[in-house]
Amino acid sequence: MNRQIAICNNAVQQYIYGDYSLQHFNLHGIRVPCGVVHTKTKDFDPKSEQHANFVLLKKRAFSCNYRDKGLALGRLDIMTEAGMKTNPKFYALGSEFSAEVVSVGKNVKNLVPGDRVISNGNYPAEHPDARPGLPTNHGSKEFEILHFSKVVKIPDNMSWEVAAGFPIGGQTTYSMIRKLNIQPGDKVLVTSATSNTSLFAINALKKYNVEVYALSTRETFRSQLLQMGVRDVFVIDPAIRLTEQPDIVQHVRSTRKLFNVVIDPFFDIYFRPVLDLLEMGGRYTTCGMYHQHQKMNGEGNHQLTEALFQVLLKNITIYGNCLGSTQDLQKALDDYRKGDLEVIMDQVFSGNEVEAFFDRTFNSKERFGKVVYVY
Ligand SMILES: NC(=O)c1ccc[n+]([C@@H]2O[C@H](COP(=O)([O-])OP(=O)(O)OC[C@H]3O[C@@H](n4cnc5c(N)ncnc54)[C@H](OP(=O)(O)O)[C@@H]3O)[C@@H](O)[C@H]2O)c1
Repeated sequence: MNRQIAICNNAVQQYIYGDYSLQHFNLHGIRVPCGVVHTKTKDFDPKSEQHANFVLLKKRAFSCNYRDKGLALGRLDIMTEAGMKTNPKFYALGSEFSAEVVSVGKNVKNLVPGDRVISNGNYPAEHPDARPGLPTNHGSKEFEILHFSKVVKIPDNMSWEVAAGFPIGGQTTYSMIRKLNIQPGDKVLVTSATSNTSLFAINALKKYNVEVYALSTRETFRSQLLQMGVRDVFVIDPAIRLTEQPDIVQHVRSTRKLFNVVIDPFFDIYFRPVLDLLEMGGRYTTCGMYHQHQKMNGEGNHQLTEALFQVLLKNITIYGNCLGSTQDLQKALDDYRKGDLEVIMDQVFSGNEVEAFFDRTFNSKERFGKVVYVY
C-alpha cells in the first residue's frame, strides 16, 4: 500500500484505516479534512523502456512549503464543489522529501538501491525528458516513480528529517546568492526573516564577509535571529511605510548607509518599499509572492510603475529567481556535510499526527524553521 498525507473531503473514510483516522485542520477559515490516505502502489519495471530513466523511491520524510498552502486552497475549491462531497477526493501534499532508492531503471548509472536521496528541483530542467522545477507536488506519497535527474544523494551526516526540509531552501538560496554576486562588505537586508527561505539565506550568508540585517513582522524571534549572526532585526508594523519604521529610520541615521543587497521571498509585499532602502546600484532578488490564492489576504503592493521608476533612477539590478541548478543544491549539501550550513528545524511529526503537522506548518505563529513529517 502507498500511504500519502492528504487533504480530502469527508467521503474518503474508506482509504484512511489502521492506526489512522480522518482529522481536520483550519486553513483560512475553512475546516479541511485530512489524513493518511492509502492507495495502490504503481508497478515499476526496471527493465522496461518506460522506466529506463526513472527510479522507484520509498519516502522516509517530507515537508510542505508556503506554496503548498496555495495548492491546498486551490484544490479545496474543486474538492468541496457540490456533488464532490459524496465522491472520495483527496490530494496528497508535499513539496520536498527525503527517500531511499528502491529500484532503478536500466539507463540509470549514478544511483543504486539503498541510496539516500532528496528531491532536486533543478530549474530549468537539465535533462531532456525530465520536468523543470520540483519533481512532484505530492512529496508525501510513500512510493513514487521519478526521473533519476530529479533526486540527488545526501551526505551521511544528514538525517532523514533534516533532509526532508533541505532541498528547496538550500537550492533556492544558493541560487539567489550566486546571482547576487555577493561581495565582501555588502550590506544585505533579508525580508520576512523568519520564513524558511530567509532562514536558509541567513545561514548561507554566514560564510561571506557581509553584514546581514533581518526584517520581520515578529518580535518573538529577535534573539534567535541575532544568534544566527544577524547584525540587527527590524521588527516592522506592516501598516507603516518602511522608511518611517522607527528601527529602520534610526539605523539609517546612525550608519548613514542604506543597504546594497536585498533578498526578498515576497515581492508583492516588499519590492516597492525596499527600493527606498537600497543604495544607488543596489541588487535585489526575489523568489516568490505572498498572495498565492485569493483567500490569502494581506498588504499587497501593486504600484509597479512607481517601483520600476525607482529601479531606473537608482540603477538597481533585479534578479528573478526560481529554485536553482543541481550545482546550487550540491554546493548547499556540501556545505552541510562540512558543517558550514545549519538547517533550522522546528518540529517533527509522525503516525496519525496529520492535523498537528498541517496546523504547525500552515498556521502556527510560533513556528521557527522546518516542520517535517516522518514515516
Ligand atoms: N520559486 C522558488 O524557487 C521558491 C523557492 C522557495 C520559496 N519560494 C517562495 O518564497 C516565499 C516564502 O516561502 P517559505 O516556504 O519560506 O515561507 P514560510 O516559511 O511559510 O514563511 C512565511 C513568513 O511570512 C511572513 N508573514 C506571515 N504573515 C505575514 C503578513 N501578514 N504580512 C507579512 N509577512 C507575513 C512571516 O515572516 P516575518 O514575520 O519574519 O516577516 C513568516 O515567517 C513564498 O512566496 C514561496 O513560494 C519560492
